[in-house]
Amino acid sequence: MKKFSLLMMVLTATVSVFAQEAATVTEEAPATIPNPSLGLSTTELLIITLLIFSIILLFVAFTLYNSFKVIYQERINPTPFKTKEEKLLDYEEWQKLNKSKPSIWNKLLSLKPLSAEKDLEIPHSYDGIKELNNPVPTWFNVLFYGTLIFAAGYMYYYHIGEHGERQDDEYKTEMAKADIAKQKSLSKSTSSIDENTVKVDPSQIAVGKGVFDANCVACHGQNGEGLVGPNLTDEYTLHGGSVKDIFKVVKYGVPEKGMVAWEKNMSSANISAVTNYILSLQGSKPANAKAPQGEKYDAAAETTAN
Ligand code: HEC
Repeated sequence: MKKFSLLMMVLTATVSVFAQEAATVTEEAPATIPNPSLGLSTTELLIITLLIFSIILLFVAFTLYNSFKVIYQERINPTPFKTKEEKLLDYEEWQKLNKSKPSIWNKLLSLKPLSAEKDLEIPHSYDGIKELNNPVPTWFNVLFYGTLIFAAGYMYYYHIGEHGERQDDEYKTEMAKADIAKQKSLSKSTSSIDENTVKVDPSQIAVGKGVFDANCVACHGQNGEGLVGPNLTDEYTLHGGSVKDIFKVVKYGVPEKGMVAWEKNMSSANISAVTNYILSLQGSKPANAKAPQGEKYDAAAETTAN
């Protein structure tokens, strides 16, 4: 026991030294270190890990110490194999008397001891190869019958009782919910800007270029020079060239002529941004520009008319 208490002392001493070192580190650590997890700093985590590790080490040491003690005592002073009536036996006889019960593990795997193999043999052999009639392991049967019971419950819940939503219905509900959420967010954003409140705002041009590149180049060309859709860089327009006109065309589209109505798929902020981008393209004279369509738009006349 003396040895053990010595061991304990050494171990506790190391632990406290670790703790002290760690504590000094914490003090030095800058306060701005971000918390990696659980609201603990790296140092704190390190201390906790070291503490847990030393406790495990202590436990292992204690177990080892006990086993060595048993081995040592058995060496010096072996316990004789004997019955309760103090009759001395040899090892085999003693083992038969002290037959241990099969462990839970063995029961679960339906393992049979080697000595029972004779009873398991199926009475045929091929080229001297014999077959054992090993039972199906319990865990497998539990699993197998478990799936049957689960299937019955599932069938009743979803298909007969119709208590729960089936996958396809669940999908429909989710889509409907998403639709509602989409409508909500769109109406929220369209309520913020419409064709009456849209303004010329050069700060939106960069965002607008992103929107244009993602949605419009297929029909209006990389630089608005026109492809299927008209040239957006010249002074001629089909639907007017004011910020309100352009906003309206983009929002409601010209479905019969192939211009998409973007209001369903684009927030009003993005429509406003792309409108400003189109305005910024005025007079940029890109290569391969499409011939003018519509009437010449005169900004000055428009402002005086309004
Ligand atoms: C599927 C092809 C297509 C796409 C995509 C498309 N447009 Fe159009 N756009 C057209 C067509 C075609 C017209 C001409 C409509 C007409 O003849 O009245 C047009 C017209 C316009 C006009 C009016 C031009 C004028 O002369 O009055 C504007 C502005 C416009 N589009 C902007 C956009 C923006 C912004 C996008 C991207 C968000 C876009 N378009 C995406 C095909 C498209």
